[in-house]
Amino acid sequence: MPAFAARAPAKAILFGEHAVVYGRPAIAVPVTQVQARASVMAEPMAPTGRVWLEAPEVGLNCDLDALPVDHPAQILVRGLLQALAIDHLPALRMRINSTIPIAAGLGSGAAVSVAALRALSAFLGHPLDDERVSALAFQVEKAYHGTPSGIDNTVITYARPLYFVQAQPFELLKVAEPFTLVIADSGVTSSTAAAVAGVRARWQAEPERYEALFEEIAVLVNAAKETIESGVPEKLGPLMDENQQALQKMGVSSPELERLVEAARKAGAWGAKLSGGGQGGNILALVPPQQGETIASALIQAGAVRTITSVVQASSG
Ligand code: PMV
Repeated sequence: MPAFAARAPAKAILFGEHAVVYGRPAIAVPVTQVQARASVMAEPMAPTGRVWLEAPEVGLNCDLDALPVDHPAQILVRGLLQALAIDHLPALRMRINSTIPIAAGLGSGAAVSVAALRALSAFLGHPLDDERVSALAFQVEKAYHGTPSGIDNTVITYARPLYFVQAQPFELLKVAEPFTLVIADSGVTSSTAAAVAGVRARWQAEPERYEALFEEIAVLVNAAKETIESGVPEKLGPLMDENQQALQKMGVSSPELERLVEAARKAGAWGAKLSGGGQGGNILALVPPQQGETIASALIQAGAVRTITSVVQASSG
């Protein structure tokens, strides 16, 4: 039997992280320069039902049954079997490789889930459509992250820029003019679940202040959507700066992230902000296309451990 392989990209949240957990809109884009890949092949010599997992980047090389029942791989396989109404698997080997930095706000977990669900369902002869892939990846995100909005699994499954409101059909964005992002990794790993829980605790303590910040962010997200659709991308810069200020007030920035945001602006970026859960992970800088390289070097000088330059291509939505 041949191997079945599938890929999924990383993602970046352009506007609206955290507020999206509270029903406000957000905008996310795929980042295809880094990817997760899953391949599944039959193991005819192994006992029926044995699922062998290999994920060298996270040091996994074991039988699925050896993992705790709440491990994301267990949740994913159980969820898939239930969705396909299959009660047992043939013996198989699944290999996961990913170039997406882990715990860095780029959606590595959701990308692994999407790639694995696609490869495994194709191997079983029941390839899932995008809607079911995204829904199952969301189940894994929920078990892993607590209260995810669903934006990561959605943008990673559809691999298109989108405008997202929790529990509503998402909207593919019309991108009138391409724009260039430099994504810079602070090198500080951070847990999205912890960042989201921190915001929740502060929101509970000061609901009015936090609701006002979420509202402020919603206005920025809607202005950004119009700007992307009407095609003057440099106008997104000030909106990113304002979004960053609101995130800072919410307590999800950090000295490392602030240093990178500042360095990007000084080197000529039109705007910059953290992306994802924050308190570590990556920043995004919106850059004049011809200045991408200079700004990326300035970010490395300011302490970034790596940069990715990604062009959001024009699309009709
Ligand atoms: O840190 P990431 O890439 O998983 O992004 C999380 C985005 C949040 O808005 C903070 C949480 C969510 O589920 O939307």
